[in-house]
Amino acid sequence: MSVTDEIKARIDIVEYVRRHVPGLKKAGRNHKACCPFHNEKTPSFVVNPERQTWHCFGACSEGGDLFTFAQKVHGWDFKEALRELGAEAGVQLKPQTPEQKTLSDRIDGLRGLVKAAAELFQGRLYSGAGSSALAYMREERGLRDETVSAFQLGCAPQSWDWLLKSLRALGYRDDDIVDVGLAIRNENGRVYDRFRNRLMIPIRDERGRAVGFGGRALGSEEAAKYINSPQSVLFDKSRLLFGLDRGRRAIRDSGTAVVVEGYMDVIQAHQAGFYNVVAQMGTAMTEKQIQLIAPRIARRIVLALDADEAGQSAARRSLDVARRTVARDFAGRMNVDLRVLRLPDGKDPDDFLRRWPGEWDSLVAGAPAIADFVIEMETKNLSPGASVLERQSVAADVLPILLASENNLYRQENLQKLSRRLRIGERELLAWARESLPADEPAKPPMPPDAAPEFWLGEQDAIPPDATGWNGTSAETAPTTGAGGRQSPALEPYCLSLLLKNPNLLYLANRKLRELAGDDEELLRGPLSELGVDDFTRSQYRALMERLLDSMAQDDQEPLDYLASVLDNALQSEIKALLIDSPETVSRTMRRNFQVDLNDILRRRPLRVAPGPGEHEELISRALQLRLIRLENERVEMQYLQEEAQADGDLDPRQRDRLNLRIMLSMRAKARINMAVSRNSLPLKQTSMS
Ligand code: UTP
Ligand code: MN
Repeated sequence: MSVTDEIKARIDIVEYVRRHVPGLKKAGRNHKACCPFHNEKTPSFVVNPERQTWHCFGACSEGGDLFTFAQKVHGWDFKEALRELGAEAGVQLKPQTPEQKTLSDRIDGLRGLVKAAAELFQGRLYSGAGSSALAYMREERGLRDETVSAFQLGCAPQSWDWLLKSLRALGYRDDDIVDVGLAIRNENGRVYDRFRNRLMIPIRDERGRAVGFGGRALGSEEAAKYINSPQSVLFDKSRLLFGLDRGRRAIRDSGTAVVVEGYMDVIQAHQAGFYNVVAQMGTAMTEKQIQLIAPRIARRIVLALDADEAGQSAARRSLDVARRTVARDFAGRMNVDLRVLRLPDGKDPDDFLRRWPGEWDSLVAGAPAIADFVIEMETKNLSPGASVLERQSVAADVLPILLASENNLYRQENLQKLSRRLRIGERELLAWARESLPADEPAKPPMPPDAAPEFWLGEQDAIPPDATGWNGTSAETAPTTGAGGRQSPALEPYCLSLLLKNPNLLYLANRKLRELAGDDEELLRGPLSELGVDDFTRSQYRALMERLLDSMAQDDQEPLDYLASVLDNALQSEIKALLIDSPETVSRTMRRNFQVDLNDILRRRPLRVAPGPGEHEELISRALQLRLIRLENERVEMQYLQEEAQADGDLDPRQRDRLNLRIMLSMRAKARINMAVSRNSLPLKQTSMS
């Protein structure tokens, strides 16, 4: 029996619930009461003693077991519930390792601090001193009292040390207060409140725990309209969506998340009953933010961006990120339905919802898909006499988004539409796009080592791997390595093409992985194992990789000859495309070459025993890149597994430990890869091939 089962067996849910819901009465086999989680007059909250579950059939329409009830009623996370209920039931929990314990204690402590601050800000609002802030919320922002309390809004007074003093009085230390960003320490060592004379909005993680704040200026003399908590161990704005804790369920139920820019937009939307609205908090959307939603909770993301110029360019940036994320994570297909909601000029969702709440639903439902939006936006200002260059650059902007679209028909229609608008033939369009894409993107700015993201893949992945799948002819969008070391857009086929040209390179990549693993067996067996089928996501590449590995395992024939003899036609033509698309090949000659036969290519293939100069470095770094993507995807996957199981309250502690271990291993592996890459320790010092 798992620990959770054991706890559940020892604590009767009816008894436990009755402690918190005194009105619980027996009704037939069940017990009933008015729901403790929402306001109601007729009981719709039911506890089933046989199954040891509870359910609210009213507004919450939510239920679960002892754990979810305890979490919800106390605001605990799963870990806390496990600890508390375990103690009550007298069930022994497996102790954490000392390091885990130190870290999680520290984080718990900081969470407590932020929670206390939220309560202090809230308390201040209802003290006499908060009356003008309260009036501002009610009168100028049109917020009802229950909305103000649901979001636990509060206020910070015009003072340099009100919060500091209040927190110190509760026993918190200055260092911690500074660490979570609630106070600032200047060069002279003086510590003072970060948020002064502001309306305070707690920002919560997915599970509803306050991790930071947004503070809106109450006075007009304030320099910044909003101040936000800085990055800290608790608070990472790029991985949070404001309102997701309250909106998760509605997002799941409706299959749609509406992403707005500001806190107030979310608060207003929720007040109006639109709970599936979350905010990216001002900045352009990040990959992490998209991954919080899609495709796990919902497949459709509607970007509701302000109608102003800034909003439009934020839309472009968000779209770029979305395209990249979506393209990279999910087998090259865009299985997220991205739409763009356009608001009337000069209105943000907050304004709109206050004036026309009844129109919101149709606005969301009618939001055009991003490709339509981008075609519209980009061609709108194009004069009839626009130069070829201008039209070409529009094509280059729009095509990647079209190419990433999963739906062929839709893609085709939009291509036609774009072709008409630009007066450029469809084939021509594709050719142009291919030529201008690499130059289209600015070179990646150098990054100081300490600012390097754990996930160093960036711009070079901007073109979805699927781009090579256009009409099934990979040659159409061949990877190119242009000037300045620009990198191949489509990583998987590119790596595969390198391997096909020189299968021996595989040894080098594997050697590098082994080197990085050092003598850590777990890394070697797990996240730093040899390059394999699982490093590829698209089925044809997986199949090819598998055959390639077979070909290496036999020694009757040259690997490529072996491949030619065992592969079916479809895969043969895939190889053909991959070989022709090699980086050195110029795009023009490519199409001519494409007519020739595989045997011909294989015959003309330069026979190389040792890899050409630079080629092995290239492969190693690409292989590591592939591996990073895989690790990142796996980590996200595991994290979701863990979170969902925790939310459902049914994570077996052993399974949980295994997941934790795997996540840690995977992070360790990523760190090593990143370090190797940033240290520039590539390539291997010495290469001897036989
Ligand atoms: P807006 O300037 O559109 O603010 O910024 P808003 O939400 O309409 O604010 P109100 O209605 O005037 O109160 C949108 C979001 O950008 C971030 C905040 O998250 C804000 O909600 N932002 C804006 C900042 O972080 N800092 C700023 O100075 C301004
Ligand atoms: Mn606003």
